[in-house]
Amino acid sequence: QAYENIIVTTEGRVGVITLNRPKALNALNDALMREVVAAAEAFDADRGIGAIVVTGSERAFAAGADIKEMQAQSYQDMLLSDWFALWDRFCDVRTPTIAAVSGYALGGGCELAMMCDMLIAADSAKFGQPEITLGVIPGIGGSQRLTRAVGKAKAMDLILTGRQMDAEEAERSGLVSRVVPADTLLKETMEAATKIASMSLPATYVAKEAVNAALETTLAEGVRFERRTFHATFALEDRSEGMAAFIEKRKPEFKHN
Ligand code: HXC
Repeated sequence: QAYENIIVTTEGRVGVITLNRPKALNALNDALMREVVAAAEAFDADRGIGAIVVTGSERAFAAGADIKEMQAQSYQDMLLSDWFALWDRFCDVRTPTIAAVSGYALGGGCELAMMCDMLIAADSAKFGQPEITLGVIPGIGGSQRLTRAVGKAKAMDLILTGRQMDAEEAERSGLVSRVVPADTLLKETMEAATKIASMSLPATYVAKEAVNAALETTLAEGVRFERRTFHATFALEDRSEGMAAFIEKRKPEFKHN
């Protein structure tokens, strides 16, 4: 498939989606959003892919939803097209997703990074939800995911003032998994992605599902879900292989079934 706003590559079992609208700092217009979702779904349908990396440029992961595209739209346009509902499909991807963020991750850019399962930031990264400065509010889950990630105090501060948070503050607040020097961002992210992609794919799917359950249900329900799912991993051939490899002191050879 030919894409115009993203670059799609693979390296071993890792799929990489690079946002590529440099002149607009990777602002998320409708075409780019559709391409990211299509590429993520195509990787997700491919058993040869075990992790998906989403990244931007050195200067910007993404500077938000495309303000120039949204400017002329009415309430009716937004409602009838259910603007941004498309992103729900990105969140339904079962393959682990990793955002590698350098530079600006603002508005929809910050929200896209937060929709990924892991967020690795360059020390140059800047996060923020500046929608309030435009007279709107976050629209791709920012008010919900940021609050779950960093708590009410920081989320209110960022969403009400629209200020930016640097990588160090983002790590301290629990928004990002790791901060690395900007010039090693892709190397470190690819190493993490390659490691994740080397694990049993079905085990990875259910591990991700179990962690996500923690954000959506009670502790008792979540623990019950985890336990039943843990029991279910005993049906996997990869489970037999993983344990046999440990006992035989060798590396496992997962067949992803
Ligand atoms: C459209 C954008 C854009 C955006 C940048 N550009 N962000 N175009 N939508 N979100 C364009 C600029 O218009 C400019 O194009 C070019 O990218 C370079 O940007 P500059 O502003 O010249 O760069 P700089 O001075 O370095 O400032 C970088 C920046 C600033 C701080 C990131 O661009 C900025 O504040 N952008 C908007 C950030 C934002 O408000 N995001 C939230 C959007 S709303 P030209 O053609 O002039 O050279 C959102 C949530 C949506 O995401 C949900 C509710 C609506």
